Amino acid sequence: MLTQLFPKKEMDLAAFRADFPLFQRRIKNKPIIYFDNACMPLRPRQVVEKSNEYYYNFPGCAGRSNHKIAEEVEQAVHEARTEIAKFFGAEEKAVVFTKNCTEAINLVANSFPFQSGDVVLTTDKEHNSNLLPWLKLQKQGLIRHEHVDSTTTNEFSLEALERKLKEHNGKVKLVSMVFTSNLDGVTNPVKEIITMAHKYKAKVLLDCAQAVVSHEVKLKKLGADYMTVSAHKMLGPNGIGALISTSENLKLLNQFIVGGETVKDSNLDGSYVMEDIPERFEAGLQNYPGIIGLGEAVKYLERVGVENVHKQLVKLNQYVTDGLKDVPQICVLGPPEAAKRSGVFSFVLKGKKVHEVSLLLNNLHNIMVRSGAHCVHSWFNKPENKSSVFKDGTVRASFGFYNTLEEADVLVKAVKEIAKL
Ligand SMILES: Cc1ncc(COP(=O)(O)O)c(C=O)c1O
Repeated sequence: MLTQLFPKKEMDLAAFRADFPLFQRRIKNKPIIYFDNACMPLRPRQVVEKSNEYYYNFPGCAGRSNHKIAEEVEQAVHEARTEIAKFFGAEEKAVVFTKNCTEAINLVANSFPFQSGDVVLTTDKEHNSNLLPWLKLQKQGLIRHEHVDSTTTNEFSLEALERKLKEHNGKVKLVSMVFTSNLDGVTNPVKEIITMAHKYKAKVLLDCAQAVVSHEVKLKKLGADYMTVSAHKMLGPNGIGALISTSENLKLLNQFIVGGETVKDSNLDGSYVMEDIPERFEAGLQNYPGIIGLGEAVKYLERVGVENVHKQLVKLNQYVTDGLKDVPQICVLGPPEAAKRSGVFSFVLKGKKVHEVSLLLNNLHNIMVRSGAHCVHSWFNKPENKSSVFKDGTVRASFGFYNTLEEADVLVKAVKEIAKL
């Protein structure tokens, strides 16, 4: 029955799983069931090995010295940037490396040419990384932050967006929204959001941190102005991310963090000449092994195929949703249809504390999930949510493409067991 659901021609799951050494590890003599993928997916050994090549073979600086080692770093970074740009359907010179998705959003927030009275619109379920940069600017009196309320099933409302855009009558300069939510896995209608925002002359930033593993995220095809990602969310190394844009939109931005590599020339009289894009935004020594590892991660993702990833996530989510639907205490956050929640099953068991449930899953079955507010505190603090079953957060099981139905089955049985305790 299970093998019928996973015919070999779709994806050779066993072969891909072999690339992830964690699956060989045992804790208390039992395998690990890793369902914390929205926080951080596992990294295949190809990515780790590629990053290590830098440290072993050419551990130098790019763009500074003219010796052989420096030339090799330069070449490896260039090749990675080319791969990454291709993956995101963007120009190579419009890929800016940052520390992570958070830094990429902060880069736009601190360099976009806002004028007094400008409005930035987000959804009501943004990760703190796409909320705090705007709240900070608002506190400084530089912008006004407004949000678009979700529907009762926590989905995006294009009508509500249009109402906001009309209400602010040309003052909304940036619509900065999550593509796929880490809270409940819901994917927003980003193409329609972009078309509507552009109609009202607003630019669009998409927080693609979660979407990038399971959806096609191509800048030019979508028509987005800015997209932000973290490598660790897409099978790549920690400590590297990117802002992906167009030359035109990058040139609109002022410089943010400045220093070495961001200028062509500088003078003690106060003048300096900015570097071209993207270097003018990449200050100081870069994370070369991270960049090179990210280049390998996008190649790996291409091999798996994001549409295969998405299919697998929905299959797992469907299995868990169906398996637990008759548990009387369970409440699932987001729309009832598993297909609308991608790889996220965010739930509470009425009468049980969320941290207690996640600890029991870990202690009894090595099932690793996350519990709490998932860095979306502002959603839980909305009055209507504060008085709901979700007031103390949720337990979030988030699947990876390498997870199996057998693992999902262990989760279903474990949650039923905990519900009865
Ligand atoms: C939707 C979303 N946006 C932004 C972030 C921030 O990513 P990072 O901490 O890697 O910058 C996360 C991380 O969980 C996320 O899920």
